[in-house]
Amino acid sequence: MTSPSPLRLGPVDAGEAFTLQLAAYVPEARAHGNLDLPPLLETLEQAKEALGDPACFAWGIRESGRLVASVRIVVDGAAGLVGRLVVAPDRQGHGLGSSLLLAAEAAMPSPVTVFRLFTGELSAGPLRMYSKLGYVETHRTPEKHYELVHFEKPRVRQDGPVR
Ligand SMILES: CC(C)(COP(=O)(O)OP(=O)(O)OC[C@H]1O[C@@H](n2cnc3c(N)ncnc32)[C@H](O)[C@@H]1OP(=O)(O)O)[C@@H](O)C(=O)NCCC(=O)NCCS
Repeated sequence: MTSPSPLRLGPVDAGEAFTLQLAAYVPEARAHGNLDLPPLLETLEQAKEALGDPACFAWGIRESGRLVASVRIVVDGAAGLVGRLVVAPDRQGHGLGSSLLLAAEAAMPSPVTVFRLFTGELSAGPLRMYSKLGYVETHRTPEKHYELVHFEKPRVRQDGPVR
C-alpha cells in the first residue's frame, strides 16, 4: 500500500474535489438505483462552503499535481464524521482510498476519539475496505429501497485507544 502524505484541502480546491466526487459517486448511485445520493446533489457552492467550514477537515492526495483522492472529516464533539471518501475512477484499487483514510484519521485534532461513517449496503468495495481498516458495523437505517450500514472505529494511538 502506498503511504502518501495527505494534503489539507480548502475552498480553493473545491472545484477539483467536486469534479472528483461526481466521477466517483455515479457508479455507486447506479448500483443503488438512486441518483439522488447527497454527494451527487451537492452544488459547487455547497462544496466550497463545506471546505471552508472550520469543523470540516478535508484531505486529499495529488499525483503530479492532479487531485486523485479526497475525504472530509467533520468534527462533531468527540466524533470525526467521515464522508465523501473518493478516488478517481482510473486510480481506484491501488490503495489510495485506504491510505488516505488512515492518514486523515491520524492527522485529525486530538479531541476526536472515535470515527463514524456510513455507506450503502450494496457498496461491496467500501464495506470490505472499512472492515479491513478496523471499522465495526453499529447499526443499519432504511434509505429508500436499501439500507445504510453505519460503522464506528475508536481512535487508536500507539499507547492504546484514546479515551
Ligand atoms: C471506495 C473507494 C474510496 C476505495 O478507494 P480505493 O483506492 O479504490 O480502495 P483501495 O485500493 O484502498 O482498496 C482497499 C480495500 O477496499 C476493498 N475494495 C475497494 N474497492 C473495491 C471494489 N471495487 N471491489 C471490491 N473490493 C474493493 C478491498 O478490500 C481493498 O483491499 P484489497 O485490495 O486488499 O482487497 C473508491 O473505490 C471510490 O472512490 N469509490 C466510489 C465512491 C465511494 O463509494 N466512496 C465511499 C462511499 S462510503
